[in-house]
Amino acid sequence: MAEYDLVIRNTTIATASDVVKGDIGIAGGRVVALGERLDKGRREIDGTGRIAVPGGIDAHVHFDQDTADGSVFCDDFESGSRAAAAGGTTTIIPFAYQNKGQPLRDAVNKYHARAEGKSLIDYAFHVILSDASEKIMGQDFTALVADGYTSFKVYMTYDDVKLTDREMLDALAAARREQAMLMIHAENSDCITWLTERLELKGMTAAKFHATSRPFVVEREATHRAISLAELLDVPMLLVHVSAKEAMHEIQRAQARGLRVYGETCPQYLFLSEEDFEKPGDEGAKCVCSPPPRGTDNQEHIWTGLAANTFHVLSSDHAAFKFDDVRGKKLPGARESFRKIPNGVPGVETRLPLLFSEGVNKGRISLQQFVALSSTNAAKIYGLHPRKGTIAVGSDADIVLWDPERKVSLTNSILHHNCDYTPYEGRELTGYPVMTLSRGEVVMDEGRMSGSAGRGRFQKCDRPEAARPRGRPLIDPSIFN
Ligand code: URP
Ligand code: ZN
Ligand code: ZN
Repeated sequence: MAEYDLVIRNTTIATASDVVKGDIGIAGGRVVALGERLDKGRREIDGTGRIAVPGGIDAHVHFDQDTADGSVFCDDFESGSRAAAAGGTTTIIPFAYQNKGQPLRDAVNKYHARAEGKSLIDYAFHVILSDASEKIMGQDFTALVADGYTSFKVYMTYDDVKLTDREMLDALAAARREQAMLMIHAENSDCITWLTERLELKGMTAAKFHATSRPFVVEREATHRAISLAELLDVPMLLVHVSAKEAMHEIQRAQARGLRVYGETCPQYLFLSEEDFEKPGDEGAKCVCSPPPRGTDNQEHIWTGLAANTFHVLSSDHAAFKFDDVRGKKLPGARESFRKIPNGVPGVETRLPLLFSEGVNKGRISLQQFVALSSTNAAKIYGLHPRKGTIAVGSDADIVLWDPERKVSLTNSILHHNCDYTPYEGRELTGYPVMTLSRGEVVMDEGRMSGSAGRGRFQKCDRPEAARPRGRPLIDPSIFN
């Protein structure tokens, strides 16, 4: 009787720390052995010529989330998780959205109902904190963290969700107390509104003016402010979707001061630029997201930040709206002003192929960095490690086999999301995931999807070690505890 349900044999095993040759023994959905010449498994997969990596963790996706403007995200847990798995991701972390005044528990419960029976792969939740009042925080925050919801997104812009600096301080104090991770969308709201009004008055309303309304200073200033507030109270935080080198430099300065400040960037800041807004017709709307892609010269700076480990996480920020749809990029009013174009781009399936081809295969980052950026660091920062994010004895057998030489022309017709475009149409890639295993079950084999919707399990997150304060606030903690 074989000891293993499955053996992946004779493969290159890459983790965030090592690249070794060997076999992976899997039983009961977990990795139970790593070694050479393991005993025969009930099923065998030949891993020769493949690279086995921990399944990707996409720690920033928006599926089936409420919106305030009548737009509709085109991916739900079913299509979004299928696309994720096809692109080499085995865990997704979307956002339970709290409407202002809504109890956090209610927001989480409603989001569970949306996920129920749909996800092909495992998932956890972040919570979008749009109301950090004492009433709300006092009710639910502590209990939610204890129940496995340990990361909270705070917006410094968007009228329906943004927190004031004072409210951010409340959120920071609560995060410090509970050892939760705060994720910050850093853009200066008043500055964006002021610029938008002036642009509209001058008739500068085409999609390209979306970028004009959110210049790099807007991001840099808010990044600096968020870090300052976190430094005051001594609270670790992660800056999400960092787009520009100037914001990146703020993060580097904070890290040099020894602060626990983490950074996330996304493929749109490596592969898109403000030139994409100049495309003919309405095409520019396809790349409208916030913060916006910057100049092409900025892209290499962001690559440098990845190589230098300034950034810990590369997420997709998959926020897909159909292009040819009045509930998407052609929302009523969107043609009259960039302000009405729903913000966000699709990317959950293309995130890792882009990073592998242009990062690893072009020598910009190492294979170990690829693993760290795509999986391990997110697992650590959000309290899923070592269950997720590594290939080690005892970890879930979430494993992706890559063919490092596979040539693929990216085109929307090969993707599994429910969006009618990809902003990366026509890109030629080298290296592609050819098999995805979720807890030992093959869910993608050479592009063929298998496994039932709803097999994915909700994952409770631990209080992340990464969110532990250093113990050196600038003011006496008894003042704010
Ligand atoms: O434009 C973006 N990034 N849309 C998604 C929502 C967000 O702020 O992450
Ligand atoms: Zn955001
Ligand atoms: Zn987002």
